[in-house]
Amino acid sequence: MAIPRHLAIIMDGNGRWAENHHLPRVSGHRRGVETVQSIVRSCRELGIGYLTLYAFSSENWGRPEEEVGALMGLLGQFLKSEMETMLTRGIRLRVIGEIRRLPAPIGQVLEEAVARTAENDRMVLTLALSYGARNELVRAARALAARVASGELAADSIDDETFASVLDTAEIPDPDLLIRTSGEMRISNFLLWQLAYTELYFTETLWPDFDDEQLQLALKEYGRRQRRFGLTAAQIHGKDREDPH
Ligand code: IPE
Ligand code: IPE
Ligand code: MG
Repeated sequence: MAIPRHLAIIMDGNGRWAENHHLPRVSGHRRGVETVQSIVRSCRELGIGYLTLYAFSSENWGRPEEEVGALMGLLGQFLKSEMETMLTRGIRLRVIGEIRRLPAPIGQVLEEAVARTAENDRMVLTLALSYGARNELVRAARALAARVASGELAADSIDDETFASVLDTAEIPDPDLLIRTSGEMRISNFLLWQLAYTELYFTETLWPDFDDEQLQLALKEYGRRQRRFGLTAAQIHGKDREDPH
């Protein structure tokens, strides 16, 4: 089984899980949080260096007020209950997205959790909150434009690396594997820059049902993929260096 250095997950299907069980949507989100807790532990044990979870998108602000409120409440509870685990297991918390849009008390809890876990080095857990990749790219473009306008940066000197350095994910390597649950085959405004060469894995399983067995299946499939990054298979195997005669 191959272990990706960075695993990113679009955790989808909480609402449908609840519907299937004749429960309100918020019950699905509550079960979804339990899945998060167990997957975080499993990834840490497997030696995955970076785990990034899409928890709340820029577009999710448009959901009914009651659902948004419930999600914010669950986020606050999750942060409080996970603190101990993060500290004892060496997990560093990071956040990406427009954090200033979150309710102030949540923003404060997040800030504290990020600061308290800053020295941890066994796994980086990144939560994408109020996150939309287009918004991230626009903010990055603005940051670069401001530096160019002030004369600090020459427009011609902007390259891939400069651009990546002003994204929310600066210092985080690009994901090796992206998992999306619930059968939807789309990216939904997640990490558009960073997913350029990521292996994509889609499963019908709804997020509350995504367990260790499902994770193993995804990692096995990842191990079967050949990542070529635009090169030929022979180059990847090092065969191009062999004597052609
Ligand atoms: C994912 O589950 C959680 C969030 C987007 C916050 P959904 O709530 O999108 O569940 P479905 O897609 O309606 O089943
Ligand atoms: C993507 O799920 C966002 C998160 C998992 C947080 P959505 O349920 O919001 O995506 P769409 O609307 O199906 O594309
Ligand atoms: Mg959904």
